[in-house]
Amino acid sequence: MPETRDTLILSLESSCDETAGAILRNGREVLSQFVASQVDLHRAYGGVVPEVACRAHMECLLPGVETLFREAGVRPADLAAVAATNRPGLIGALLVGVSAAKGLALAWNKPLIGVDHIEGHIAAAGLAEPELAAPYVALVVSGGHTNVYLVPEDNPGRGGMVCLASTLDDAAGEAFDKAAKLLGLGFPGGPRIEAAAREGDREAYAWRNACLPPDGTNFSFSGLKTAVLYAARGRAGRKGPLLLDARGVADAAASFQEAVTHALVSRTVRAAKEHGVRWLALGGGVAANGYLRRALRDEAERRGLRVAIPPMSLCTDNAVMIGARAHALFMAGVTDGLELETAAR
Ligand code: KG4
Ligand code: ZN
Repeated sequence: MPETRDTLILSLESSCDETAGAILRNGREVLSQFVASQVDLHRAYGGVVPEVACRAHMECLLPGVETLFREAGVRPADLAAVAATNRPGLIGALLVGVSAAKGLALAWNKPLIGVDHIEGHIAAAGLAEPELAAPYVALVVSGGHTNVYLVPEDNPGRGGMVCLASTLDDAAGEAFDKAAKLLGLGFPGGPRIEAAAREGDREAYAWRNACLPPDGTNFSFSGLKTAVLYAARGRAGRKGPLLLDARGVADAAASFQEAVTHALVSRTVRAAKEHGVRWLALGGGVAANGYLRRALRDEAERRGLRVAIPPMSLCTDNAVMIGARAHALFMAGVTDGLELETAAR
């Protein structure tokens, strides 16, 4: 039985290819959660197919919510609010979660809270490191985003974050997925590149600075992708046969991972120094990469910065991070009406 002062929030996440739900107490304590991955459904297509994602979200979401209440031992009447990711993501996929949240909020007469997926990824870092305090610099790296943000001290509401750097072309996770395909490693690319890289030489290819465009601020992954293409398939292009043996694939994977990591870590640490903050936060699916996690920790330590990194399970898409962000919004008095909209960007 929840204490009367407890704030219980049901949160839903359906922005891409994970259907997830959670019930959190006071924004930190996870009473129950589920993540239904669709990776096996999309593997045959080598990437996420929006229609397939929507159908799977519709099948998994409400049965998942029933399980959440059973496992948490609470009732809908105990909730303070119902939250769902409403942006950014695949528009149809977002609509499934937001429509479900609207229906539940209406039926149970609870406030509705729309959560920005990126802000959710950043909230996951705060769950891992309760001492994380704004102002801080956050690096969000996922299949759709590669952004460095300044999270200002006074950020209870929405839209307070300042984007300091972003990608000029592909997102970092997208680059991992594409490089994995070129190297014949399959889908999803991130974990496969990471595994292959363990056996490889990160200096085999001179790619270290390939993701640092001359503007001195942002990221670019398309040049590195082309370099991987030529190394893996030569002049024949994407459809050509793989020219590398296992050792060569491992070397290319390690050199690729080093280039992406070097760009992400150096730009993020520099942003922290420029803005005089003492904390760094990391979030998003690519933050599950062990090489990146270690590199950011090491560089932060060298520069006297503290760093908040979520456990792996909270890096890839989940609803716990959405619940954590929803709780912060709720406590700041920010809720939405049933007219809440979804947005792809
Ligand atoms: O945050 P997320 O689960 O979904 C989006 O919001 O996009 O991120 C998914 C991305 C994929 O591109 C996937 O390849 C990448 O995160 N990823 C990784 C690793 N695990 C997942 N990238 C590098 N190393 C990993 N271990
Ligand atoms: Zn994500």
